[in-house]
Amino acid sequence: NEIYLQGLGGAKPLFSTDPTKLEESASNLLDPAPFAYVAGGAGSAATVRANRAAFDRWRIVPRMLTGATERNLSVSVLGTEMPAPVALAPVGVQSIVHPDAEAATARAAASLGLPMILSTASSTSIEEVAAANGAGPRWFQLYWPGDPDVCASILARAKKAGYSVLVVTLDTWTLAWRPADLDQAYLPFLNGEGMAVPFTDPAFRALLEKTPEEDPPSAILRWISLVTGTDRTWDQLTFLREHWDGPIVLKGIQHADDARKAVDAGMDGIVVSNHGGRQVDGAIASLDALPGIAAAVGDRIEVLFDSGVRTGSDVLKALVLGAKAVLLGRPYVYGLAHAGEDGVRHVLRGLLADFDMTMGLSGNTDVAGLNADVLARA
Ligand code: FNR
Repeated sequence: NEIYLQGLGGAKPLFSTDPTKLEESASNLLDPAPFAYVAGGAGSAATVRANRAAFDRWRIVPRMLTGATERNLSVSVLGTEMPAPVALAPVGVQSIVHPDAEAATARAAASLGLPMILSTASSTSIEEVAAANGAGPRWFQLYWPGDPDVCASILARAKKAGYSVLVVTLDTWTLAWRPADLDQAYLPFLNGEGMAVPFTDPAFRALLEKTPEEDPPSAILRWISLVTGTDRTWDQLTFLREHWDGPIVLKGIQHADDARKAVDAGMDGIVVSNHGGRQVDGAIASLDALPGIAAAVGDRIEVLFDSGVRTGSDVLKALVLGAKAVLLGRPYVYGLAHAGEDGVRHVLRGLLADFDMTMGLSGNTDVAGLNADVLARA
């Protein structure tokens, strides 16, 4: 309604409400290397495409005269009350698309009450993002540093700054083969982007002082070596449990056995995710992995989902297939690129409105009431 009414006065939306057109206009707006970094996938991008194609194999079956004029979209996930089952996926190095970066994202998320998940690879510090996010719900995503003091220090900072849930990303212990970035010879981290968390961390700085050759490039490489290529095992999750007083979620789960292991390890949640197709080229579509995983864990753990969510009907499908809530990745980053905080909000409000209308028009009043009948195989 808001958009149509503003249209009476000749105003158009900030940018397209169509996610495909939004990606196209972001490609015109951004320099080729940052755009390729955001949009790209691993290898041939087969999994980026598969993530989208999987949604097309499910169809919503509308029901009539259900009283769905009033909808309740709210959910409670891991102690966070959410007005709708949507959170902002952790996306690092947001300064490569807009100077306001994660602070703008944090303000937009807070204005809508949606949880923002701050990446360890953020270009803005944990504390600055918390200040921008204010009373909004915020979670912290960990790239798990091999050094115990650095890891404990980062967790303590996040906890102190009001991040309530820890999201541990397991699928990116090394960066995948990404031709678009390789061809541009572009990795934002090597330019110092996404280094705000380690560079403001006292334990990491103390570690650097012990190394004689400290200078910015070697500090960056030292950090990269801490969070990549190191051996982590399921039993080491006890370290995170000991150092994090709150729910812990494992992100990047695609196999039912790994989901069961997360339950056995005492985790509180998982994100069924393939990192938006950015890690294993040819990997199973995340939506195809979801039903089996949801069935395997039942209600023993919270199941979240990401990779390929673009529209309201995608949100609905993921919920029916077993997710409690979804995370949105690239689209809000394109919104940020277009118009900073307002751009992120425009994307999120569009998705929420689309989801709300899809719920209502398909005859669903409450996300808690969604069941398998809502979908049919295409
Ligand atoms: C990501 N993602 C990500 N995940 C994570 O745990 N930590 C991170 O720092 C990042 N950084 C990041 C940067 C960029 C540019 C993208 C596009 C993605 C993955 C992200 O959290 C999420 O899993 C995917 O983006 C979801 O897929 P869609 O919604 O982009 O299709």
